Amino acid sequence: MGLQAYNMADRGITFLCCIVWGKANIDTAADKAQEGGDEDKEKISVTLIDKDGDEKQIKVPIGMSMLEAAHENDIDLEGACEGSLACSTCHVIVMDMEYYNKLEDPTDEENDMLDLAFGLTETSRLGCQVIASPELDGLRLALPAATRNFAVDGFKPKPH
Ligand code: FES
Repeated sequence: MGLQAYNMADRGITFLCCIVWGKANIDTAADKAQEGGDEDKEKISVTLIDKDGDEKQIKVPIGMSMLEAAHENDIDLEGACEGSLACSTCHVIVMDMEYYNKLEDPTDEENDMLDLAFGLTETSRLGCQVIASPELDGLRLALPAATRNFAVDGFKPKPH
């Protein structure tokens, strides 16, 4: 009787452990699915179109600049000043006005640099100043056929 009671109690504990263990596993799987979902939510899809018209779709984490994203994906966008608004080699053209209008307005410093960009268009921006945000999901950017890099192109400012 004593042994039987012990076995029953033992089985009860085992059964209880299975329930707890099973729940822990279910929770973990649900958490992982949730985490995966969040991971996707934290990135947006951006299409970059190179000078030959070839398109490459990349995932860009929220908060990352298009210049950094291009570099992470081996896309040829120069960015000579590494985002310090001292060049125009990160010039990109926003393909859709709808998306262009979603961007923060360019600062005066960005506009000054854009004025020096080769092949400036109405929807030109500097790639280092375009930061991924959820509303930019689906953004399409063209890389201009050429950039102007004063350091390499031998530009010398004229004396006043
Ligand atoms: S990298 Fe120079 S202004 Fe963007």
